[in-house]
Order: sequence, then structure tokens, then C-alpha cells
Amino acid sequence: MNTLNPVILCVDDEPGNLKLLERTLGTCGYLVLKAGDGREALDIIARHTVDLVLTDVMMPGIDGFEICRRIKGDERYRHIPVVMITALDSKTDRIHGIEAGVDEFLSKPFDHAEVLARVKMLLRTKQLDEMLDDDAFAYTVHSLARASEANDEDTGDHILRVGEYCAIVAERLGLAEQWVQSIKLQATLHDVGKVHIPSYILKKPGGLTPEEWKIMRRHPEMGAKIIGDNLKFHVAKQISLTHHERWDGGGYPLGLAGERIPLEGRIMNIADQYDALRNARVYKPAFDHATSVRIITEGDGRTMPHHFDPQVLRTFVETDSLFEEVYEKFAANSSLIQQESNFSATPSSVGILPAFQAGVALE
Ligand code: C2E
Ligand code: SIN
Ligand code: SIN
Ligand code: FE
Repeated sequence: MNTLNPVILCVDDEPGNLKLLERTLGTCGYLVLKAGDGREALDIIARHTVDLVLTDVMMPGIDGFEICRRIKGDERYRHIPVVMITALDSKTDRIHGIEAGVDEFLSKPFDHAEVLARVKMLLRTKQLDEMLDDDAFAYTVHSLARASEANDEDTGDHILRVGEYCAIVAERLGLAEQWVQSIKLQATLHDVGKVHIPSYILKKPGGLTPEEWKIMRRHPEMGAKIIGDNLKFHVAKQISLTHHERWDGGGYPLGLAGERIPLEGRIMNIADQYDALRNARVYKPAFDHATSVRIITEGDGRTMPHHFDPQVLRTFVETDSLFEEVYEKFAANSSLIQQESNFSATPSSVGILPAFQAGVALE
């Protein structure tokens, strides 16, 4: 949230109304963005961090209800309070508004003091929620991610690095800051389902038998089940479920293709593979940056370029030096910590809570 100058998007097809709202809100330190129709409004929401939406009901094209439905139906934006300005006597508008997820109603012609009071109240509630939530939420996500690593000693800082790679791609794709932060945090849960995979499979030095693959390929769904249905974990759930899907439809568990794979899954897929390639696993050696990039961009039979969303792949190519920086940064940290302790097991998840971590033996 823009705490100092909250950003309020006003949507109305009558320029006079927009001017009026701008004057009312502008004098109180709010930053006002204006949209003359629904299309423009959704465009602005995708490009800016909007803290509150004030919308008229009737507009040509996408009307106020539809704007609200789109905002509330999209995990990236649903936290944005929507205030709908309805005619004083329109009960049907209000009922439709409630169904669309409107947070508050204001009647036209509106009272300036009431507009300001409603807006202030909604923004304060939103800010408090965010502050309380952010810390506790990040802590919970990281705890769960740490728990998922206990069984999989190969991974090291994998979970934290992949969060950073995802953020690099999301940022480059121009996604809203909120979305970038959300994928950065929640990507750490992509493999939480591996807690259900027996360690004789996870730690098997060689290739897997078809039977073992069948078990391994259940980790996305098991993860989604662990993460559950809480809306705050929506991104994590999508990522867990779809991070092994492929653009050409050849992935698992669902065999989704193209844009039917949620964007967060498409981003995670490339982040996951880059990191898996860079690291030594029990079943494979570590590859250097150039080799890993080559495997992703040119293919090696197992991994092929057409497995990736072309736009995400292009973005990876544009930002691969940042991927390398992230990888090297964590590698430097973890060798430092390893030198400092005589603790010989693979340091797992160093950087989340090193002190806590150092006290936990990995079997
Ligand atoms: P992971 O080791 O973290 O690998 C994640 C993904 O990175 C893999 O998904 C694959 O797409 C890519 N990847 C990893 N290593 C290589 C590699 O050497 N070459 C290429 N081209 N791509 C690589 P995938 O294949 O669906 O595997 C999912 C998980 O299954 C792996 O996660 C790992 O835990 C396990 N796994 C995969 N192959 C083996 C294996 O041969 N032996 C054992 N023990 N486990 C395996
Ligand atoms: C990991 O085990 O570190 C990640 C692999 C995967 O996405 O399956
Ligand atoms: C498989 O999914 O059965 C094999 C591994 C791969 O294609 O990477
Ligand atoms: Fe996975």
C-alpha cells in the first residue's frame, strides 16, 4: 500500500464527476488517478499500485459491476477496496453491487465529508490488515517451506533463490509490485508436497523407475493439498500445482497447455529448472551458468525451449545475468556460514533463520 499518499482510482464516464472527486480527494493528500471507462480502469490497476477504487455504476462497455467482479476475481487485486457510487434510490444496483463484491456504497449526489470519511476508514482498515498480516504471513510461509526441505537435503537455498528468480521475471514482465512480492514469497512453497515423497526416492542417486516417477509426480498435488484453500495462499497453491506443467501440454500433473497454465506456474517452471541445473543433486552434477542457460534456451532433449512460455523464456534470456547474481550471492553466503560452523550436514535454507537452522540437524 502507498502509505504516504494513498492512490485512489476514480472511474466515471462523466468528466465533471471525475473533476469533483479529484478536487475532494486531492485536498486530503490522496493521489487521484482517473479513468473514463472500465477498460481504462483495469489498465491502470494493472500498471499502478492502486489502494482504493471509487467507481460509477453505468458506463459504456465494462460497467462498474464488471470492474468490481474483475478486481475481486483476481488474486492480485482483490484486496483493493471498491466503493461504488449509486443513485440514492437504487436498491437493485446495491444488490448487484454486493454480489459483485463491492465493499462500500456512496449515494449520488455525494456528500464530501461522507466520501472522505468512507475512504479514510477503508484505507485505515486495509493498512492495519496489511501490517499485521505481512509479518505473520511471511513467517508462516517460510516455516512451511523450511519444513518441506527437511526431507530433501539437496535443495540448500533453493527455495529462497527461486523466489528471487520469480520476482526478477515478474518485475521484468511489468507486473504490479504486490504481485511481484507475492510470487517472491509464495514460490518458496512450490515443492512442499515433497514431504510426502519417501526419501529413498528423493535421495536415490540414479534415475527413477516408472513406479518411482509415478510417486514423484504426485508432489504438485500433494503440495496443493497441504497449502489448502485459504485465499492468501492462492499463488502458492497455483505454483505448487502447476510448476511442472509445460507450455506444449506435455507436463504434469494436469497436462495443461499455454495460457491455461497460470502465469505464476509458468514463471516458476523456468526458475525451478534454472536452479535445479545450477545445483548438484544426488542424481546429477551441478552445471555452470552458461551451460544451464544453454540447456534452457537450446534444449538437451529432457528440457526443451518449447516447454516454456515464449514470453517467459524471452524474459529469462533478458535477465539471466540477474539469475546468476542471485545464485552466486547465495552460494557465497552459504559457504561463509559453512566455514563458520563445524556443522557438517548440507546447510539447508540458510538465510531464512540461520540461528534456528544451525540448531537443527538434518537427520
Ligand atoms: P529437482 O531436482 O529440483 O528438479 C526440478 C526440475 O528441474 C526437473 O523437473 C527438471 O525439469 C529440471 N531438471 C533437474 N535436473 C535436470 C537435469 O539434469 N537436466 C535437465 N534437462 N533438467 C533438469 P522433473 O524432471 O519433473 O523432476 C522433478 C523432481 O523429481 C526433481 O526435482 C527431483 O526431486 C526428482 N527427480 C527427477 N529426476 C530424478 C532422478 O533421476 N533421480 C532422483 N532421485 N530424483 C529425480
Ligand atoms: C527441489 O527439489 O528443490 C525442486 C524441484 C521440483 O520442483 O520438483
Ligand atoms: C518424466 O517426466 O517421466 C521424465 C522426466 C522428464 O521428462 O524430465
Ligand atoms: Fe517440483
